[in-house]
Amino acid sequence: MNILIFGAPSAGKGTQAELIREKYGLKHISTGDIFRYNVNNNTKLGLKVKDYLSKGELVPDEITVELVADTIAKLEKDGFLLDGFPRNVFQAEALDEILKKNNMKIDAVVNIDVEEKLLIGRVIGRRICKECGASYHIKYNPPKKEGICDKCGSEIYQRSDDTEEVYKERYNIYLKQTLPLIYFYCKMGILKNVDGNNKPLEVFESICESLGDCHD
Ligand code: AP5
Ligand code: MG
Repeated sequence: MNILIFGAPSAGKGTQAELIREKYGLKHISTGDIFRYNVNNNTKLGLKVKDYLSKGELVPDEITVELVADTIAKLEKDGFLLDGFPRNVFQAEALDEILKKNNMKIDAVVNIDVEEKLLIGRVIGRRICKECGASYHIKYNPPKKEGICDKCGSEIYQRSDDTEEVYKERYNIYLKQTLPLIYFYCKMGILKNVDGNNKPLEVFESICESLGDCHD
């Protein structure tokens, strides 16, 4: 099973992706996580994309599409969960081509639908691990020991784009460029809309229900 996970910035894509990955044994591919890893490690790619991330702008398509094409081509088998890609029509069409080349297809697009007023609270309170990328929230999902990742013991930090001002930019880009893709996948008959306003485990239950008919 290959899945796309969709939703506004801070809707809970990463949180749900972790649970889906565990249950269905899928490879989680998050373009945002890959970019952040490269920024934190000062790689060539990281230096190229750093400013786009901190301003909340999209990284140019040629960089992002090449990254996803390489990552998918290197997969040993089907079974991935793509998070944060595609984000516009160009990327959606490029993904079609990449999948065709690799004899793969998307089985489901999970759209996590969250009321706009809840999103800002989720983004401002988020903290992530510098090392393994695990995501926390100071109120809804705090680590056991303040400032320290439960999973790997490394330091947790606040993303440079998790401010109210940058969030506005990210959300506007989402409305203009990413949200229209919902109709693209709805027409293909593979869209699963899930209520993302509830607690993480409740959202996960709804996702599993929606995937029931796709899982062979
Ligand atoms: P990316 O990393 O993809 O960020 P995003 O889409 O803005 O989404 P987030 O990671 O912010 O949120 P999420 O939905 O994963 O939420 P999470 O589970 O963490 O992209 C970052 C940047 O990289 C982009 O701005 C761009 O520059 C670049 N980029 C990436 N992909 C690109 C592409 N394809 N093209 C071009 N550029 C690209 O949850 C958020 C918080 O809420 C957490 O604290 C969590 O604990 C909490 N939470 C989660 N679920 C719940 C719940 N149900 N109830 C309460 N709290 C919850
Ligand atoms: Mg994320």
